[in-house]
Amino acid sequence: MQHRPIKTAVFPVAGQGTRFLPATKAVPKEMLPVVDKPLLQYAVDEALAAGIERLVFITARGKGAIDDHFDMASELVAGLKARGKTAELASLEGTCLEPGRITSIRQQEPAGLGHAVWCARHIVGADAFAVLLPDELLWNPARPALAAMHDAYRQMGGNIISVLEVTEAHTHRYGIVTPGRSDGLLTEVRGMVEKPQVGTAPSRLAAIGRYILQPEVMDVLAKGRRGAGGEIQLTDAMAELIGVQPFHALTFEGTRFDCGDKVGHLMANVALALERSDTGPALRDWLRSLEL
Ligand code: G1P
Repeated sequence: MQHRPIKTAVFPVAGQGTRFLPATKAVPKEMLPVVDKPLLQYAVDEALAAGIERLVFITARGKGAIDDHFDMASELVAGLKARGKTAELASLEGTCLEPGRITSIRQQEPAGLGHAVWCARHIVGADAFAVLLPDELLWNPARPALAAMHDAYRQMGGNIISVLEVTEAHTHRYGIVTPGRSDGLLTEVRGMVEKPQVGTAPSRLAAIGRYILQPEVMDVLAKGRRGAGGEIQLTDAMAELIGVQPFHALTFEGTRFDCGDKVGHLMANVALALERSDTGPALRDWLRSLEL
């Protein structure tokens, strides 16, 4: 049986980005560039490549630049056209979708990732939906993470999350899966725990910010139960669906950059710039010249 494609993706982008101060005093952290594209645009492009039609940004005060970025910039476009700047015009692709495809919702209080997702409930309605955490830059241009998950979803249905093995020492930073049977990259999920204390993690399989979820998760989130860090955790709500609905983890094939972290963000800039013909050669030469 083929399950109906996912049409809606939710992007929680309300976080303050204090780890990147002072850069994030006036600029949302999701708008910080990786090479020349805002971090959020990578996640949006990934969603569009997976066939997503409707985008929901869960924002907060001070995040207006996100709405501006995904709006029509008539003067800019007219100016570029008049000057024959075709490459620059092409670079704007994916930054302006037709009206109605993007919805912004304010989270109003920083009550956790689960609360952020719950804010999208009226847009999500009764259909399965995706969640993408833009801090996680999952890089595989040939087979983007959400597209691979979407393919798996069409076959399996239920809930599918993207995972990657992390070191034992890092398990306390993530939602960690209790794995069941595995078939290639797909693993049955038997349980999930958010940020387990060091030494207590059920495995090293960590959730890395991509989810395809059934709408029933909203009913669980609506209860508003607080978990790790006193926040309403998406992991806790997902854990309640395990055993009730099919639940699988798909191991991501590609390179993952944790752009919520300064070093991870710098690594993403270097790695992606090295891959490009306009920036790669000069950057490679300079890196080689460094005496580290
Ligand atoms: C969130 C989730 C966690 C997940 C992580 C991936 O945590 O709660 O389950 O493993 O994203 O980046 P955060 O990084 O927001 O604390």
